[in-house]
Amino acid sequence: MGKKVTELETRRLELQDRLDAEKGTLERNRMGQFATPTKLAVEMLGYARTILGPDATVRFLDPALGTGSFYSALCANFPATNIHSAAGFEIDRHYGVPAAELWSETGLEVRLEDFTRSAEPEGSEKSNLLICNPPYVRHHHIDSGDKRRLQLRVREVCGAEISGLAGLYCYFLGLSHNWMTGGGLAGWLIPSEFMDVNYGKSVKRYLLDEVTLLHIHRFDPMDAQFRDALVSSAVVWIKNEPPPDEHRVRFTYGGTLDAPKMEKSVSSETLRRESKWARYPAKDEAEVIKGPILSDFFKIKRGLATGNNGFFILTAREIEQKRLPLEAFKPILPSPRYLLGDEIRGDRDGNPLLDTRLFLLDPPWTEAEIEKDHPKLWAYLEQGKKTGIAARYICRHRAPWYRQERRPPAPFVCTYLGRGDKKSGRPFRFILNDSRATAANVYLMLYPQEPIARIMQDRPELKRRVWEYLNEICPRAMLGESRVYGGGLHKLEPKELGNVPAAAIAELLPEADRPRGANQIELF
Ligand SMILES: C[S@@+](CC[C@H](N)C(=O)[O-])C[C@H]1O[C@@H](n2cnc3c(N)ncnc32)[C@H](O)[C@@H]1O
Repeated sequence: MGKKVTELETRRLELQDRLDAEKGTLERNRMGQFATPTKLAVEMLGYARTILGPDATVRFLDPALGTGSFYSALCANFPATNIHSAAGFEIDRHYGVPAAELWSETGLEVRLEDFTRSAEPEGSEKSNLLICNPPYVRHHHIDSGDKRRLQLRVREVCGAEISGLAGLYCYFLGLSHNWMTGGGLAGWLIPSEFMDVNYGKSVKRYLLDEVTLLHIHRFDPMDAQFRDALVSSAVVWIKNEPPPDEHRVRFTYGGTLDAPKMEKSVSSETLRRESKWARYPAKDEAEVIKGPILSDFFKIKRGLATGNNGFFILTAREIEQKRLPLEAFKPILPSPRYLLGDEIRGDRDGNPLLDTRLFLLDPPWTEAEIEKDHPKLWAYLEQGKKTGIAARYICRHRAPWYRQERRPPAPFVCTYLGRGDKKSGRPFRFILNDSRATAANVYLMLYPQEPIARIMQDRPELKRRVWEYLNEICPRAMLGESRVYGGGLHKLEPKELGNVPAAAIAELLPEADRPRGANQIELF
């Protein structure tokens, strides 16, 4: 450290002690005002320099400055010529004003403002190095109007739906997204509880989907070097760019960021399934009990391969024109491109209320019965034989050749060919089927199994909830299971859909009915 930097750090520590003492623990608790120990701040900035490279120039930002422990550590680690700009926000003048005075002769711009209300910068004003120990204000200390404002803003900024039970630090994380350059680095010193608790889900989703999560380090309570407050903290490193395929995240524990006591690299795919991240790096991936997946709740089948859609699927008008018996037909869903909404209602007979109404020929009778009782249908089937349809592979392997496989209507069907770049962000759609219609093989059909089948029967309103949950499945989780074809087309097989994580659905069930892994015992 240069002499001036060391001197300023000594003065900063004195200032911190004085300001903390004047404030009192209760008040500091309410505002989440706990300073980062110098050693850790220096370690974090040193680590940032290792990631960025020794020649990197930085535009630095600390959204929750306090007296400026991270700025001080920045100066200790980066040559002054490489610090292009530096700024810090501090809402509390008690800390902010003396901090501004302390750093007045350096390049640090101290903004005495509420970070969560500040307008984000444009282009070249954004930061490529953001280091933050955000205020740890628990959710019950955030007033409801503020919570709503923060939730809306975060959703707008990075798409994350922060839970009402989340602490202020989760909003800081989300709001910072737009303050960073593409590819910029951020190091967050935050409570590690987000790794395991329910409210942390949206944070984890953000970390896995919107940015590249590089590294999570946690402290060992046996290490006396940091104050008690850090025992339950984690340092989270992210790069502001989408994650590469087959990305792996470094989990470390104890020791220092550079020389941890324990270390493990865990794939994003595993993290997506695993609800308790705090088990890493101590546990092996193989030891992790998988969370619930869709096949724990549904039998998934591909829709029907009719043998020849033109022959077996007819409109009501065609059936009438050919004077075929209606009892020989079952309603069937049209192809997804004719479905405008994601919900199909049925009329009194269970036929789908759609503009395109289609019916599948599946007569329950033998050939002899048809010949005797339904001459028009007999003639139609004879035509199928003449044109070679009956001899085709699928028909040839059925007995009789015109009998369809058993596919009762399913309450949920999924379109399984999709493009990941769709505007809606959802490459695959789940459709709620309230009709009696079956589906052809352009769909995957989801049949609820026990216990969800029973519970849905007892509580019909649950059907809609389950459907909503299905549509909330993170697109990446589905794309992760799918295969990619030319032009970015993704295809999902029944087994692959079955492997998609479905922890949210488990939550709809009483605990006793949840499948394996849904009530994990925390072993770590
Ligand atoms: C946990 S302290 C960290 C301070 C310093 N960066 C450090 O690491 O020592 C968080 C700081 O954020 C400030 N703060 C709280 N809410 C804020 C807000 N909305 N905007 C800006 N600063 C805020 C608090 O006053 C406190 O000084």
